[in-house]
Amino acid sequence: MRIPLAIPDLTGNEAAYLQECITSTFVSSVGPFVNRFASEIADLSGSEHAVVVNSGTVALQIALESLGISSGDLVMVPSLTFIASANAIRHAGADVWLVDCDRDLWSLDLSLCRHLIETETEPHPKGRRHVASGRILRAIMPVMIMGASIDLDAFAALSREFGLSVVVDAAAAIGAVARDGRKLAQIGVDAVCYSFNGNKTVTCGGGGAISASDNDLIARAAHLISTGRVGENYEHDIVAYNHRMTNIQAALGVAQLERLTLFLRRKREISTSYDELAARHQNLSAFPTPPFGTNTRWFSGVWYNGEDLAVCDRFRAHMKDAGVDLRQFWKPVHLQRPYADAIASPMPVAEDLWRRIFPLPCSTGLSAVDLATVIAAADEFWSRTEGRATGDAIAAGRAEAECG
Ligand SMILES: Cc1ncc(COP(=O)(O)O)c(C=O)c1O
Repeated sequence: MRIPLAIPDLTGNEAAYLQECITSTFVSSVGPFVNRFASEIADLSGSEHAVVVNSGTVALQIALESLGISSGDLVMVPSLTFIASANAIRHAGADVWLVDCDRDLWSLDLSLCRHLIETETEPHPKGRRHVASGRILRAIMPVMIMGASIDLDAFAALSREFGLSVVVDAAAAIGAVARDGRKLAQIGVDAVCYSFNGNKTVTCGGGGAISASDNDLIARAAHLISTGRVGENYEHDIVAYNHRMTNIQAALGVAQLERLTLFLRRKREISTSYDELAARHQNLSAFPTPPFGTNTRWFSGVWYNGEDLAVCDRFRAHMKDAGVDLRQFWKPVHLQRPYADAIASPMPVAEDLWRRIFPLPCSTGLSAVDLATVIAAADEFWSRTEGRATGDAIAAGRAEAECG
């Protein structure tokens, strides 16, 4: 595909810092870049410390495990998310409770969460007992879908009310802050987890981070990801993991963070162009911009607001022919084979929305020429499609008038 969806821009200090790793031989999980990257992530998310790990999925899993969440427990998570959010819950040994999303915000439906907690659970010393399954609801995992803001204050308040924890899947939301400027870990949630996968705004090649205001949680997470080692010698006190980030990954991350402001600006410019594209076509709408804080716009694009869903596949094929990487958006988790039997609320919104969403190329290094190519191809398709629909409507009206 000539114009990919989201590829990294590695034209800063990435190569120089990687060379430093090679020259210094610090290529593994100890090294100056690891400490520097962890401290920069902590700073960005408003916590004293952060733990850096080898993927965003692992960040979520370890955050849950550090909260003591395990087998027999349940975690609420939106079905409209990348499957990794749910996988992380399963990796921690718990089960998912899949919940629909809000039609306007596209993120986990807060009032539906409250309704489900009130009607399907009962108090339990460790959280809330899900009556039908007997499992214990321990946490809610809202997802900052495509880097957009969510009402973390409200999720934190809901969780406190019912004795639950909040682990935020901020995989795509590096650089996000609340409307009043508070950073994500300062909003009363238990943990904030990021991904630095290759397609993210900031990449380490692969990687993730956990940030939290509770230093004990951070210490437990750090212990869990580094083989449970105690002291200098080969002494270990728990069965733990090796999920550490390497100095090589962190070197990339440090170089990327140097240009975070630039990256976020470019993401905003690209998404503004797609908002303008949507405004030119009656069947297209802009992605939501929830009002709770910065929208980091990891992914941007347009969505189809019409009735004829078959047109969505035709649009994808048209863009593919034009050399544009336009794939289907995330298929909701409850429709995925491994989660067919998961606890799930009815999903009218997720089942409708996912087919309508078109994430368009949004690499931070996307050139003006490529952006113009994407927009021209989309304009051409929708002008033709809407022109034909208008023509059909006029012809139908005329036929009706002649018959009458
Ligand atoms: C919403 C969401 N959660 C979790 C993840 C998992 O991150 P990683 O690929 O780094 O494991 C991703 C990655 O794309 C994601 O988009």
